[in-house]
Amino acid sequence: QNNFKVAVAGASGGIGQPLSLLLKINPLVTELSLYDIVHTPGVAADLSHIETVGKVKGYNGPENLLEALRNADVIIIPAGVPRKPGMTRDDLFNTNAGIVRDLAKAAAEVAPKALIGIITNPVNSTVPIACEVLKQAGKFDPKRVFGVTSLDIVRANTFIADGKGLNPKDVSIPVIGGHSGVTIIPLISRATPSVSFPEDQLKALTTRIQEAGTEVVKAKAGAGSATLSMAYAGARFANSLLRGLKGESNVIEPAYVVSDVTESEYFSTPLLLGKNGIEKNLGLGKLSDYEQQLLKAAIPELKKNIKAGVDFAKK
Ligand code: APR
Repeated sequence: QNNFKVAVAGASGGIGQPLSLLLKINPLVTELSLYDIVHTPGVAADLSHIETVGKVKGYNGPENLLEALRNADVIIIPAGVPRKPGMTRDDLFNTNAGIVRDLAKAAAEVAPKALIGIITNPVNSTVPIACEVLKQAGKFDPKRVFGVTSLDIVRANTFIADGKGLNPKDVSIPVIGGHSGVTIIPLISRATPSVSFPEDQLKALTTRIQEAGTEVVKAKAGAGSATLSMAYAGARFANSLLRGLKGESNVIEPAYVVSDVTESEYFSTPLLLGKNGIEKNLGLGKLSDYEQQLLKAAIPELKKNIKAGVDFAKK
């Protein structure tokens, strides 16, 4: 098969629009279904004029949600609110947690075979929420639900390439763990090509990769968080899922998934993707002493984030 229905939930947003554009120019996407609570007809009309094969349809508002997701092969979810002045982190959590819960419920009902990629933050918690909701609906398959962490790899590749004067396309840095702050663990000891840095530079680079989202938030000065680079990473991730579904061999992409490679019940590692989603979790591999320390710091934070998600879904 090489024709797929891809649905974007939250398609009118800062991430959703450029992500939808990148999906519209992906030849594997023959049906592009755009869902949001606002502006979807306009975004769909605009994208539909692009001279590529994918048919675009816009679905506006909750009464059209089920149609938007029905029988999708892949669902990518960037729906949510970025933090605004006066909002606490808990406000953001509760709003986005509720949005992901409702979208996962709808997916369980009309697209039980879909591969679901969640971008909505906090990813460390929203992925467990979606998994719990799918479990409650009797439709859970741990091989099919993913938190999109590709942006951490994209950033690590770019920063290390810049630091060494290399072409970023030639650089590959595994990044494992979660998708915020200290839970992000770049494995610079396993860089391709092999690179080395003095200890202080290694620490500074690690921190820059972990805090890269904040770098963008600060630069945007109140106008939101990363949207264009996140859309690029989301499209890269969706393309990997589609290549796997299509039956290509050796498709490897990281994601935050149900996992038993550490004590944390959810963890991001490189995954071999195939016709059913995850074919094989490629695991942690060998870590340097420094990376072991990063892992140790990440686990309690991840567990806290996961518990928050699970508690929300059970309430
Ligand atoms: N269903 C579908 N879409 C929704 C819903 C919902 N219940 N609630 C909000 N949306 C839509 C908004 O209408 C908007 O079009 O989600 C989109 C979000 O876009 P932005 O506000 O521009 O936010 P963005 O920067 O794209 O970030 C979205 O991704 O990285 C994360 O932390 C970020 O959680 C945030 C999300």
